[in-house]
Amino acid sequence: MVRVGVCGAAGRMGKTILEVCHDTAEVQIGAAIEHSESPMLGMDAGELAGIGSQNVKIVDDISSVTDDFDVLIDFTFADATINNLKKCQAAGKRMVIGTTGLSDAQKSEIELAANDCALVFAPNMSIGVNLCFKLIELASQIIGEDTDIEIIEAHHNQKKDAPSGTAVRMGEIIADTLNRDLKECAVYGREGIGDVRDKKTIGFETIRAGDIVGEHTVMFASAGERVEITHKASNRKTFASGAVRAARWIMEKDNGLYDMQDVLGL
Ligand SMILES: NC(=O)c1ccc[n+]([C@@H]2O[C@H](COP(=O)([O-])OP(=O)(O)OC[C@H]3O[C@@H](n4cnc5c(N)ncnc54)[C@H](OP(=O)(O)O)[C@@H]3O)[C@@H](O)[C@H]2O)c1
Repeated sequence: MVRVGVCGAAGRMGKTILEVCHDTAEVQIGAAIEHSESPMLGMDAGELAGIGSQNVKIVDDISSVTDDFDVLIDFTFADATINNLKKCQAAGKRMVIGTTGLSDAQKSEIELAANDCALVFAPNMSIGVNLCFKLIELASQIIGEDTDIEIIEAHHNQKKDAPSGTAVRMGEIIADTLNRDLKECAVYGREGIGDVRDKKTIGFETIRAGDIVGEHTVMFASAGERVEITHKASNRKTFASGAVRAARWIMEKDNGLYDMQDVLGL
């Protein structure tokens, strides 16, 4: 039995992860954490997630519950995730990090912490998206140099970071495959009159609207045809199931940094 701590327990992903933990026979909800100003503190995590009482109260201090979980699943905000990472590192706890929007410096902190604990860090935990990462790599190898590449993503109107972590990872995969530096070749949105498109650029377009769970398209366009690789998530359970799968997988692993490609054996 794997005991999971859920950080950001009252959030969209947090509640879905609690639900998936409840539905997974080999997993037990060990702890639920929110920030110190959360009105949900003291509530039963199961009641909050609509799965009935789990006898796990929502607390604001990870250090007070480190004995109650084996692996922490964190879907919060960049700064909160880094704080939680330090606490898990000190307590020797494994961690699954789904938070997006981390700076390069914060990503380096995660890499460094992986010397002391086993971590899965992935901007998208759905199996379909991770399959798309592979398809995008293949398409980049075969037609990347001859096509204009654009990444279009859409999410709900509450999402704070843009472009999405998944879109950025798609851009990194394409840039790495084509020996380009994403920092130099990325173009974020377009407006006004400018030069015509430079073939070496990778374009990003962001849509924020309604309750869209998450949609990504990578377009490889040339004169006469275009290839589009699209993923559409219609339910957060796809991410939550991936996170819980990663939590079970990481229990057998040595210290180090892993991503969903490792978890899924891709
Ligand atoms: N990797 C993936 O597959 C994947 C999939 C979906 C989403 N995400 C990412 O996961 C993150 C969360 O997404 P979401 O849609 O669930 O957002 P959300 O609904 O805003 O949930 C975040 C939760 O974390 C809480 N929180 C804030 N600071 C905290 C702290 N210091 N300690 C504990 N909890 C804290 C928030 O509380 P308040 O609301 O009170 O501030 C909120 O309940 C985002 O970065 C998103 O991009 C990743």
